[in-house]
This record gives sequence, structure tokens and C-alpha cells, in this order.
Amino acid sequence: MVKHHLGSKICTLFFLCLLHFFVFGHCQSHSSDASIMQALKLSLGLDQLGSLAWTGSDPCNWQNVGCSNDGRVIEIKVRYQNLQGGSLPSSLANLTALQTLDVASNDLSGPLPSLHGMNSLQNLLLSNNSFSFIPSNFFLGMTTLENVCLDNISFSDWPIPDSLRSASTLKVFSANNSNINGKIPDFFGANTFPNLTTLHLEFNNLEGGLPASFSDSTIQSLRLHNQRSIYQLNGSIVVIQNMTHLTELWLHDNSFSGPLPDISGLTRLQSFIHYK
Ligand SMILES: *[C@@H]1O[C@H](CO)[C@@H](O)[C@H](O)[C@H]1NC(C)=O
Ligand SMILES: *[C@@H]1O[C@H](CO)[C@@H](O)[C@H](O)[C@H]1NC(C)=O
Ligand SMILES: *[C@@H]1O[C@H](CO)[C@@H](O)[C@H](O)[C@H]1NC(C)=O
Ligand SMILES: *[C@@H]1O[C@H](CO)[C@@H](O)[C@H](O)[C@H]1NC(C)=O
Ligand SMILES: *[C@@H]1O[C@H](CO)[C@@H](O)[C@H](O)[C@H]1NC(C)=O
Ligand SMILES: *[C@@H]1O[C@H](CO)[C@@H](O)[C@H](O)[C@H]1NC(C)=O
Ligand SMILES: *[C@@H]1O[C@H](CO)[C@@H](O)[C@H](O)[C@H]1NC(C)=O
Repeated sequence: MVKHHLGSKICTLFFLCLLHFFVFGHCQSHSSDASIMQALKLSLGLDQLGSLAWTGSDPCNWQNVGCSNDGRVIEIKVRYQNLQGGSLPSSLANLTALQTLDVASNDLSGPLPSLHGMNSLQNLLLSNNSFSFIPSNFFLGMTTLENVCLDNISFSDWPIPDSLRSASTLKVFSANNSNINGKIPDFFGANTFPNLTTLHLEFNNLEGGLPASFSDSTIQSLRLHNQRSIYQLNGSIVVIQNMTHLTELWLHDNSFSGPLPDISGLTRLQSFIHYK
């Protein structure tokens, strides 16, 4: 009797969901995604500014938010929305279906929360904000990331962390002018990143030599110019003679030494800037 009653309730819910699906194109959003989106709205300051219409209880109806057919939030695209003083909440990582997070060119601050467990995240576009800190384990387990843009962020000094190895699906890693220090780690070769096309690390505080693993990397666009550290990037650039995927190579304003290697094997190279 009780069982039957429960069963019919579930049926009714299912029917309502189906109805909603046919009318609105998606089921009512996943309830935990909806509560995290409310927290995100508060944290970004979108409850007050209202530059975007983020109203109502169903985030799938909010402007610049995309959902899958089953009501999971898969896209948040709020670049250039003049969001000042807000931050990313630690509950963000529970949006486990999210594929694209684009908050670039706002004035968000505070530390980046751990995004551990976001097992669908492909595009992480945070450039041009005032975030203060990126944890060293930030990339641990981020095995679906493809495009990571962290340009022009006033992080406190950070080395490229070992945890980045986890993101073996990376295609683009760009962190121009974001206070990176230390050496370029020796893992940007094809073994770790078989699909990497773009590595932009210009205007940072890097030092030391080019890593040997560049030799078999699939990088097409490599920008390492204008390091601001005292010693800058230095040593020989001979490893580039093996980087046959390169189309663009910008190394200027560093302290490299030694002869220019034979680059006749770099048949796709269109732009090479190497002067001091
Ligand atoms: C994420 O979800 C888990 C399980 O539902 C919950 O225990 C945890 O508190 C949530 N984390 C945050 C930061 O909201
Ligand atoms: C960076 O963000 C600021 C707003 O915080 C904006 O005015 C500026 O145009 C952005 N720069 C770029 C290159 O997008
Ligand atoms: C970089 O960020 C600073 C402060 O957030 C901003 O004033 C500046 O315009 C940005 N630079 C570019 C090239 O976007
Ligand atoms: C690299 O790209 C190929 C072709 O798109 C894909 O099949 C493969 O899974 C990718 N490998 C990684 C580690 O992302
Ligand atoms: C990289 O950062 C420098 C210094 O802020 C800036 O002048 C330059 O425009 C940036 N490059 C790109 C491609 O954003
Ligand atoms: C490169 O710079 C480092 C300091 O970062 C220094 O210890 C090393 O001797 C330099 N190597 C060369 C070949 O100049
Ligand atoms: C270039 O690749 C060859 C073959 O893999 C390797 O033996 C050689 O050491 C590499 N040269 C440089 C400078 O990395």
C-alpha cells in the first residue's frame, strides 16, 4: 500500500519532469546544481549588480548558463560582466557536470578554490582577474582539461605545479603575466601531453634552462619571452631543433646563450623571435 503510494509519487514526478522537458527543453535542474548556482550567484555579487538576469530558482533559465537535457549545469560564461570584488565559492567543485567555466575579464579576487572532482571540466578561462592564490594541488585529478587560460592574474608567486601532469588532455595552457616563478618543469613532452598545441608563459619570473622534454613535444605555439626574473631563462636553446610541430616561437628578452641551432627541420615555423 505504502509502496504503491510511493511508486505513484515517483511516477507523477517523472511525468512532470517529462512535461517540463517537452515545454522547456530540459528537466527541472538538478537540485544540488541549483543550490550551488545560488551560492555562485551570491559569491559573484550577481544578486546585487544584476548585470545579468540570474533570477528564479532554476539556473537553467539564467542568462549565460547552459544545461544538458537532463538538467545539469554544463556551461557558465560570464566574461566581461564587470563583476567586481566577487570570488569563486568553494562549493563550485560540486558542479560535476560543468564543461566550461568562463569568468575572464572581470575583477574577481580571493584564492582559487579547489576544483577537485570536476570530472567534466574542459575549458577553464579565468584570465584577467585579481585572484590572489592558486593552490599547488590545483590540477590534481583534472583529467579532462583542454583549455586553461590564466593570463594577467595577480596571483602570489607560484611555480608551475607538478599537479599539472594530471591534466594530460591539455591542448592550451596560457598564463601570460601571472607571477609564475621557478623553472619550466621537465614534463611538456608528448608522453605527458600528447595533444598540447599552445604554451604561453611570457612576462613571468621564470629562470633556468629549456627542459629536455621539449624535444618531442607537440607544441605549435611557444611563447616564453620577456621573463622579469633577474637571471631569466638561460642556457642553450639547442632543444628547439627537435620541436618540429612549432609554427611560432618567441624567446626574446631572456638570457639564452650559445649558438643558434640548425632549425631547417622546423618546416612549419612561421614566426621565430630570439634576439635578446
Ligand atoms: C559537495 O557535495 C558533497 C556531497 O553532496 C557535500 O558533502 C559537500 O559538503 C559539498 N561540498 C561543498 C564545498 O559544497
Ligand atoms: C581586463 O579586464 C578589465 C576589467 O577588469 C577590462 O577593462 C579589460 O579590457 C580587460 N582586458 C582584456 C585584454 O580583456
Ligand atoms: C591586467 O589586469 C589589470 C588589473 O586587473 C588591468 O588593470 C589591466 O588592464 C590588465 N591588462 C590587460 C592587458 O588586460
Ligand atoms: C588526443 O587527441 C586524440 C584525437 O583527438 C584523442 O583521441 C586522444 O584521446 C587525446 N589524448 C589525450 C591524452 O587527450
Ligand atoms: C601579456 O602580458 C603583457 C604584460 O602585461 C601584455 O603587455 C601583453 O599584451 C600580454 N599578451 C597577451 C597576448 O595578452
Ligand atoms: C642559469 O641561471 C641559473 C640561475 O637561475 C644559474 O644558476 C645558472 O648558472 C645559469 N646557467 C647558465 C648556463 O647561464
Ligand atoms: C633530438 O632528438 C633525437 C632523437 O630523439 C635525440 O637523440 C636528441 O638528443 C634530441 N636533441 C636534442 C637537442 O634534444
